[in-house]
Amino acid sequence: MHPQPLLEVDDLHVEFSTADGPVEAVAGVSFTVGPEETVAVVGESGSGKSVTALAVLKLLDGGRISGGQVRFDGEDLASLDNRAMRRVRGNDIAMIFQDPMTSLDPLYSIGHQIVEALRLHRPVSKKAARERAVELLEQVGMPDPRRRLASYPHQLSGGQRQRVMIAIALACSPRLLIADEPTTALDVTIEAQILELLHELQREYRTAMLLVTHDMGVVAEIADRVVVFYGGQVVEQGPTAQVLRDPQHPYTAALLAAIPHPDSAKELQLPAIPGAVPALRDMPTGCRFNPRCAMAWDDCTREVPPLYELPGGRTSRCLLHRDGGGSAVVAPPAPPLTAELAPAGPPARAPLTTQKGI
Ligand SMILES: Nc1ncnc2c1ncn2[C@@H]1O[C@H](COP(=O)(O)OP(=O)(O)O)[C@@H](O)[C@H]1O
Ligand SMILES: [Mg+2]
Repeated sequence: MHPQPLLEVDDLHVEFSTADGPVEAVAGVSFTVGPEETVAVVGESGSGKSVTALAVLKLLDGGRISGGQVRFDGEDLASLDNRAMRRVRGNDIAMIFQDPMTSLDPLYSIGHQIVEALRLHRPVSKKAARERAVELLEQVGMPDPRRRLASYPHQLSGGQRQRVMIAIALACSPRLLIADEPTTALDVTIEAQILELLHELQREYRTAMLLVTHDMGVVAEIADRVVVFYGGQVVEQGPTAQVLRDPQHPYTAALLAAIPHPDSAKELQLPAIPGAVPALRDMPTGCRFNPRCAMAWDDCTREVPPLYELPGGRTSRCLLHRDGGGSAVVAPPAPPLTAELAPAGPPARAPLTTQKGI
């Protein structure tokens, strides 16, 4: 029933040192990704999604893992030195970032960069690597792939650059792909094509995927499970269909309610979660979501809610579950497939209702 997870993030804490002292950007995050599974990570900007993704690969710039563990295929990545970690990156776990320009080298042709990625991990000749590069470019839908080998990143469109990044990511058939908002910089039509491509290749290569996204339509379409981040913590996780249909945490419910409905007038498409994600230095006491929660009561400002385990492999970090309460939140209608998550913005009322203490 439950095969050994491929990736296990266990009570991860990440700290950055700043001019004003250390801040904790990730505060005890746990989740798993199984072999060939797609797990989506959602949550407003600043909730610790990217820092968590970078921590998995030990690519934290100026930050450090201050607690917890990251295990890949049972191996604790903390125990690996830089050299061993370089072997893991690209070979076992590949990452695709939001902006391909930050990961492609402007000074080298894309052919050279794909060949280098291949030869870094595999003992193949330059000639064989070039042939494989053509194959990969073809697979990611690059027109005229052989001629494209000589192109430089600036000669490609944003969508084509992201295709090259996907080719590089898949070059060594990694077992896990981490994609951090891979289509945010692209326009909507290209975004859909790239996501479809990713999903297709993922199945073909039998790669597990940890996908950070703000697009609930994408989550609904491709994720097996969803992990909801808030304030550097996981507030809810579970199988996608159940979480979207029947969110257990008020934050998840508010997030889903904030999705603009495609039929509604433009003025109605306002972000619907009042307030903003709290600053790292200014986390509220008790539940981190309490200042913005339509259902908060006194206890929520005093008690830190644990992650409650709920039926169906779900968890939710809300005191509403304290006395064994099940579904405490009336779900908003299921999100339309093309809807996007609105960012936090000016106050507006989220249509939340409670059924406390069933
Ligand atoms: N290098 C850094 N130094 C200090 N704080 C950082 C650094 N990188 C990220 N943070 C902070 O960590 C928090 C989480 O950031 P991030 O993971 O990028 O959020 P997101 O969920 O939008 O991806 C934010 O408050 C951000 O300001
Ligand atoms: Mg991010």
